[in-house]
Amino acid sequence: MNPSFDHSMQHILEQRKAASLYRSLQVNEGLIDFCSNDYLSFARCEKLKEHAKNYTDKIGPLSGSTGSRSISGNTVFAEQLEKMIAAFHQAEAGLIFNSGYDANLGLFSCIAKKEDTLICDELIHASIIDGCRLSHASRFRFAHNDLEDLESKLRKSKGNIFVAVESVYSMDGDMAPLSEIATVCRKYNAHLVVDEAHATGLFGNQGRGLVSQHGLEEKVFARIHTFGKAIGCHGAVILGSDTLRNYLVNFARSFIFTTALPVHSLIAVKCAYELLMADGFSNAYLHQLIEQFKSDFRSQDDIYLIASCSPIQSLVIPGNERVKHVSKQLQAKGFDVRAIVSPSVPAGKERLRISLHAHNTVEQVDQLKLTLNELLSN
Ligand SMILES: Cc1ncc(COP(=O)(O)O)c(C=O)c1O
Repeated sequence: MNPSFDHSMQHILEQRKAASLYRSLQVNEGLIDFCSNDYLSFARCEKLKEHAKNYTDKIGPLSGSTGSRSISGNTVFAEQLEKMIAAFHQAEAGLIFNSGYDANLGLFSCIAKKEDTLICDELIHASIIDGCRLSHASRFRFAHNDLEDLESKLRKSKGNIFVAVESVYSMDGDMAPLSEIATVCRKYNAHLVVDEAHATGLFGNQGRGLVSQHGLEEKVFARIHTFGKAIGCHGAVILGSDTLRNYLVNFARSFIFTTALPVHSLIAVKCAYELLMADGFSNAYLHQLIEQFKSDFRSQDDIYLIASCSPIQSLVIPGNERVKHVSKQLQAKGFDVRAIVSPSVPAGKERLRISLHAHNTVEQVDQLKLTLNELLSN
């Protein structure tokens, strides 16, 4: 070990602390969950655990997948699951990746060539930014949900054009105007890619997502559905044509050069999708909680809720120190609410990212609102 390098790392960390940007890992057990992405409570669902256990008992003791999908890690189970999920979302084909991060990294790093163009909404997720950085294509960003700015970037684009948006944005919780974006993409012959990470399970018939809700399946080149949010598991699928699936199997490096998900992870995903498909499935209670949280929320001065009808409710409290202070006060009162600071979000838009879940009660949501009002008026 080189002690001087350790010293230089420490120095960088101290600078980060001084700028209120230091991240540390925290275990907040026993607090009321207002920060996880387990929107439908599938990660803690006893019925799902039982269902998955029954499958696992039949399949036997194999716990590791033993290799990448291209070598020893492929299974009939994985291929059937991909077909099942693709059929549910009305896509021709699907390819499972180990995470949403891997899916976006793999797709965006291999889909566009040097002579092509990648265009992203300015609030696009880091996994898509990182994927684009690995590509040799030209890159543009357009102002958030701004169709005119998108069109101005499309006019400057060359080669094959790919436009990336999230159907529900992970930090603001608002939605992309998907139908309008699809129309503009069609005008410029651009390929639309929609990351449905925060829409899966929550919007569209039985949680098929917003592409499905708007009937845009035929107009979208690729969709990413992640399993780590409302599905309550881990991994992700890229949906598109058979040709896209074959292309990714050949060129997506985050798919090729990694050990495949083990069958027990895939079983959990299959069981979660079966819950979505079941007759009694409903996300109505969660949508009711969202309305309850938003109703009569009192904005004050520079503190306001970003308009959203998703479980992601972001309360802007400008200033890293200020927002961190409020989140700590909430935690001390039993609410697990986390602060999102700049530069993860633009300076001045630091916020509490409050997420709502099917396991939250009406009383908990009322208590949170009451406590927030008290803290913010002091
Ligand atoms: C919009 C979006 N895409 C992709 C990802 C990455 O998904 P995963 O957590 O499965 O890696 C996330 C999660 O943070 C996300 O919010």
